[in-house]
Amino acid sequence: MTKEILESGVYKEMGSVENPSVVYPDYYLNPFHAYDEGNLSWLAAAEAEAATLSIAKRAIPEASTITEANEIVRGNWLNVIEKHHYQYSGNLKIRDILDVGCSVGFSTRCLADKFPSAKLTGLDLSPYFLAVAKYKEKKNPPRTNPFQWIHANGESTGLDSQSFDIVSIAYVFHECPQKATINLVKEAFRLLRPGGTFAVTDNSPKSKKLQELSPVLFTLMKSTEPFLDEYYLLDLEKAVKDAGFVNVQTTLTDPRHVTLTATVPY
Ligand SMILES: C[S@@+](CC[C@H](N)C(=O)[O-])C[C@H]1O[C@@H](n2cnc3c(N)ncnc32)[C@H](O)[C@@H]1O
Repeated sequence: MTKEILESGVYKEMGSVENPSVVYPDYYLNPFHAYDEGNLSWLAAAEAEAATLSIAKRAIPEASTITEANEIVRGNWLNVIEKHHYQYSGNLKIRDILDVGCSVGFSTRCLADKFPSAKLTGLDLSPYFLAVAKYKEKKNPPRTNPFQWIHANGESTGLDSQSFDIVSIAYVFHECPQKATINLVKEAFRLLRPGGTFAVTDNSPKSKKLQELSPVLFTLMKSTEPFLDEYYLLDLEKAVKDAGFVNVQTTLTDPRHVTLTATVPY
């Protein structure tokens, strides 16, 4: 998969996705995931989808294929969002969905397939990842609602207030310092319409599988994921309530991952 991307015409997409006025937060400019340039490199972008897919296989080792593991992990996450939205915001039609930290667009495609009437916007700080997302989407059959890709900091997007019905943040918070996570939550609240649904999915701090990782493996992971401790020590439900959300619920959606959902009050 990586070779295919690196040898493709993906490089041409950079000009149309990069916003040269983006100011990167300090945490984003450090080495990350064992890439010297963190997420700001073609290699990181080309390897991202393979890495994402393999995480699901570690969560569901009994799945017979990576595809099946992803269908379970992503399917459970999407079902929790759908259930929460219809339970608390049934009258609010899902027209606009924002995928913050969309990376190379895998989560954006999952959301679009689940909610086909919605217009999807994928937002990320890495123009390399967005270039891959745009390149991949061009190779797929055209959609009724084409995706919009935005290069911006999710902490302060510059997008209009109350312009989305669902804001999803998938597998981003364990990669962020607490201060950035709290800003991302506040910005999601600003961007959602009254009755809109906020959804976060990420590692479960209560997961037995993660707690039982050997100290050697955990230390190795921390060396490439510098904010894991900050993530595990944050009371995310409290941060979400403090931002003004109601109906805050947390569901273990697979043995390693948790999905938090919440509503913007009417
Ligand atoms: C693990 S990836 C997310 C994967 C994707 N959402 C999925 O579910 O497959 C984390 C992403 O968060 C992005 N990110 C980190 N901090 C961000 C911020 N402040 N604003 C926007 N994107 C951010 C990174 O560039 C990276 O693409």
